[in-house]
Amino acid sequence: MFAVPDNTLVTAENPALRHPVRVALEFAADRDRWRHLLRYDPDQRFSALVDSDEQQEVWLMAWLPGQHTDLHDHVFSTGAFTVVSGSLTETVTRRAPDGRAVVEAHALTAGQSRVFGPGYVHAVRNDSLDPAISIHVYRDGGREMRPYHLDALGGPVRL
Ligand SMILES: [Fe+2]
Repeated sequence: MFAVPDNTLVTAENPALRHPVRVALEFAADRDRWRHLLRYDPDQRFSALVDSDEQQEVWLMAWLPGQHTDLHDHVFSTGAFTVVSGSLTETVTRRAPDGRAVVEAHALTAGQSRVFGPGYVHAVRNDSLDPAISIHVYRDGGREMRPYHLDALGGPVRL
């Protein structure tokens, strides 16, 4: 018989070891955790903090048609978001190694997720005719947003 030190055991209970997409999907499926928070704000994209601890923040967002974020990154944060219902378009931009601007659009429907990390510049928009709901997980710095301008030739430029 031998002993296994506690700190070598990987358990599913350690939130830091769980992929943020998995966390977002679990919150998306567990509507009882956030249905009482859900609102649609005609003036701006709605957001509400659903859960937070020392590891991460989980946010609910509700998007009416046309509502969007401007181009931004999340400074040092990493994380993911999942579309719960409706559809969203994520536009990701970066500067290619040859200096050109790269812009990619990702159409997301319910159940689809995207991940992000430091230096990841994106904007999210509800381009559809119906409301959309999403769950967002932020780690290592929370939900801070840093604005960018898209230079058509050189890519994203911090404002
Ligand atoms: Fe973002």
